[in-house]
Amino acid sequence: MIRVLHVVASPRERSRSDALAAIAIAALDRPQVTRLDLWRELLPELDGETVEGRYKLIHGEPVAADVEQRWAELRTVADRAMAHDLWLISTPMWNFGLPYRLKHWIDCITHPGMTFTNDAAGNVTGLAAGRSALLIGAGALDFADAAQEQALDFQMRYLDTWLRFIGISDIHVVRAAPTFGLPETVDAAMDNAANELRRIAGLINRRVDERG
Ligand SMILES: Cc1cc2nc3c(=O)[nH]c(=O)nc-3n(C[C@H](O)[C@H](O)[C@H](O)COP(=O)(O)O)c2cc1C
Repeated sequence: MIRVLHVVASPRERSRSDALAAIAIAALDRPQVTRLDLWRELLPELDGETVEGRYKLIHGEPVAADVEQRWAELRTVADRAMAHDLWLISTPMWNFGLPYRLKHWIDCITHPGMTFTNDAAGNVTGLAAGRSALLIGAGALDFADAAQEQALDFQMRYLDTWLRFIGISDIHVVRAAPTFGLPETVDAAMDNAANELRRIAGLINRRVDERG
């Protein structure tokens, strides 16, 4: 059994990234899936009072009851993620990066004591170590080459950097692009992504089997 948190970052009913996530889930052995649809479940706001409260709480200073409550809500969002073995994030590319609701979720759960710790010397320890991530990205345009990808991708490179910061280094990335253009070209991109996802699901299944 593998506990999967499926983070849905596309608002579309007929989302391509979500359709690919369904293929990945179907290829996993005995997945126990929690679907976190970021467009249906509203997350706590990180407004001025809340963010000020973060610094006060870090320094052991008192905060107003509603600020304390807000931080308890944020911790619940982080704890929910931490209760899963595999974070499956399916997302479209939006303006070279992430849809803002996905960034919001990341900002909600990335705090000291939730998904990482740090000491006064600046040493960071990721608390999410031991988990895996499967990132599925859909983009209308394909990158021409590795240099263009390096220059224009603020999505997968960002997610990779963030996941490593919180301790997750077993990261699989599948990109479906282009999703706009000639039907046969789009179909080929989706088929390639689906095949790659089935292959990765096989790897994850074997790893789970070996662990018993
Ligand atoms: C606001 C917005 C911004 C977009 N920006 C990009 C982009 O920077 N690069 C790209 O390749 N596609 C971009 N697209 C297209 C989507 O990434 C593409 O249609 C994708 O397949 C949608 O995935 P989904 O069906 O899972 O939502 C954008 C779409 C929207 C709505």
